[in-house]
Amino acid sequence: MKTEEDAYGQEMWAWHQGREVSEIVERDDGYFDAIAHGPKKYFTEYEDWNPIEKKAMQFVKGRVLDIGCGAGRHSLYLQKKGFDVLGIDNSPLAIKVCKLRGLKKTKTIPIEDVNFTPNSFDTIIMMGNNFGLFGNFKKARKLLKRFHEMTSEGALIIAHTRDPYKTDNPAHLEYQEFNRKRGRMSGQLRLRIMFRRVVGRWFDYLMVSKEEMKEILKGTGWKVKEFIDSENAQYMAIIGKVT
Ligand SMILES: C[S@@+](CC[C@H](N)C(=O)[O-])C[C@H]1O[C@@H](n2cnc3c(N)ncnc32)[C@H](O)[C@@H]1O
Repeated sequence: MKTEEDAYGQEMWAWHQGREVSEIVERDDGYFDAIAHGPKKYFTEYEDWNPIEKKAMQFVKGRVLDIGCGAGRHSLYLQKKGFDVLGIDNSPLAIKVCKLRGLKKTKTIPIEDVNFTPNSFDTIIMMGNNFGLFGNFKKARKLLKRFHEMTSEGALIIAHTRDPYKTDNPAHLEYQEFNRKRGRMSGQLRLRIMFRRVVGRWFDYLMVSKEEMKEILKGTGWKVKEFIDSENAQYMAIIGKVT
């Protein structure tokens, strides 16, 4: 990815440099969200994490792949605990920030190109809503099958997402309807991130209900072992291999 497209990375880089910046997200129905202190969350320490993130960390074992690691908060936490962690992100600047923050193993690679040799990892983590990086139903299933091959027998995928139906915001409900009408899943958001003059490329970010997640996993060799619920729409899925 070129620096002029790396809006996520630019905002993380700016925050790392001590600048106060917001995260601007545009959805393809023209809905804008300005998240004040946007990147701040990506730099938080364990103490300030959501309880479901803390619980999820208890399931991590062995060699870890952190997909869409951002500024590396989970990778760095796990590395400190002694885990062998590889943080990957499609943003070169995010990876630069991870390295400067002390993450030993990093790679600039998009989820679409993730393809390691069999038995390379015991845990894959997808934090900060990153189940969304699966993008859509078909792509999710293709990648899940690939992840099955490159992980150990008892491997886990620990993924964070948000149930899109748990909202009463009329704009979100209308968008879900708009998505269904054009043959997309209700929570298949089409987004782009902006930072100053940098406008990122449009990408699909998939939010799913628990039932939709189970449907996606069917026939991929993975199944949900348990869900960790929060007080709101967010939840964590602990996904294991079908035995
Ligand atoms: C919402 S942030 C979450 C960051 C981190 N996991 C956390 O919880 O702090 C999403 C991250 O995914 C990365 N990302 C977006 N599209 C990606 C892709 N196709 N492949 C890999 N990473 C991607 C972004 O650069 C960003 O760092």
